[in-house]
Amino acid sequence: MFENATLTPPDAIFGLLEKFNKDTNENKINLTIGVYKDEEGNLPLMKAVADAEKILFEAKANKSYLPIDGLPSFNQQVGKMLLGEAAEKINWATTQTPGGTGALRVTGELLKTALGIDTIWMSDPTWANHPKIFNNAGLNVQQHAYLDERGVAINFPALIEAVKQIPAGHAIVLHGTCHNPTGVDPTGEQWDELLSVVSEKGLLPVFDFAYQGFGDGLEEDAAPIRKYLADGTNEAIICNSFSKNFGLYGERVGGVTIASTSADASLAMQSQVKTIIRRMYSNPPTHGAAIVNTILQDDSLRQSWQQELDAMRNRIKDLRSSFVEEMKRLAPDHDFEFINEQKGMFSYSGLSAQSAEMLRTKHSIYILNSGRINIAGINASNRTQLCEAIASVI
Ligand code: LMR
Repeated sequence: MFENATLTPPDAIFGLLEKFNKDTNENKINLTIGVYKDEEGNLPLMKAVADAEKILFEAKANKSYLPIDGLPSFNQQVGKMLLGEAAEKINWATTQTPGGTGALRVTGELLKTALGIDTIWMSDPTWANHPKIFNNAGLNVQQHAYLDERGVAINFPALIEAVKQIPAGHAIVLHGTCHNPTGVDPTGEQWDELLSVVSEKGLLPVFDFAYQGFGDGLEEDAAPIRKYLADGTNEAIICNSFSKNFGLYGERVGGVTIASTSADASLAMQSQVKTIIRRMYSNPPTHGAAIVNTILQDDSLRQSWQQELDAMRNRIKDLRSSFVEEMKRLAPDHDFEFINEQKGMFSYSGLSAQSAEMLRTKHSIYILNSGRINIAGINASNRTQLCEAIASVI
């Protein structure tokens, strides 16, 4: 039987990472996958995470199963972190999932089997895995307008017009902050308008919230979602990840939070989620959730974590502006100012697939073929090499 299996193409993001790992050039630069790197080019282990691990190690907890929906105190902490004051007022339930991807996959299944939703909309472009996850859950995937002609900033009138055309009863994926792959987010006012159309049209928003804290701050990034849910009359699903903001990539820890308009609906939706999870992977892994839970419950660990996260965000902002300055010097005819307007780890650089390939083959610099750059992979030692190479291919 195995003889009949065919090779599938490499993943658009992990496939390039594999290529990068095989590249023997000592000066190679990796700006592919969304992983935060420090000034030395290393993925830092956050201090609060190391401290929490020490506490957990000393507590010598056994390795029993978690409940189907995960660690109860983690779920409480996560809901509060996402919803802020609204957590006290509205009906919601959080379920721990294996990363943000796990949350999205569970959501896909939920839309299809529990709610009978057959179509989900997402921006064009979106994270390369979004269409695959939802297709795989049996949903039709449709994409709507998002970017301007240059492909580096939002075309808000086109976005609103497109969303107004979506039939009632469909779902729509909205990147809560730090749009992946572009770094292009709506402003606060644009969020208000967009979400009022979503509500009026009877669409179900699925917020992919993988970068809380990387845009403008932990509270600021959650503001549009909180505002949408504050009076308890709107429904939403929030898929969040702790890969980036706790640096817990390989621990696979995230959550799916369902905001409902009544306690009964909340209970029923939670039971549906548990049924789906039991059939798919039974229950989630323990360690990552235990780390997040320990940090969020302890004032001093929480403060230390938040400070480190703030520093990461500010460093990315600085990396953006020094990149723009360097490009001004090396390619004065090209305007890269838009990079300063984008948010989070990623930037749509405006570079073509051809330029991306030249960067890879001639300079051992790895960016996605879409032109997406992981800004967090730039540092003072590789910036000039990177900018000179970009100037030579544009
Ligand atoms: C990315 O977009 O690079 C990250 O979200 C990692 C991934 O799983 O693709």
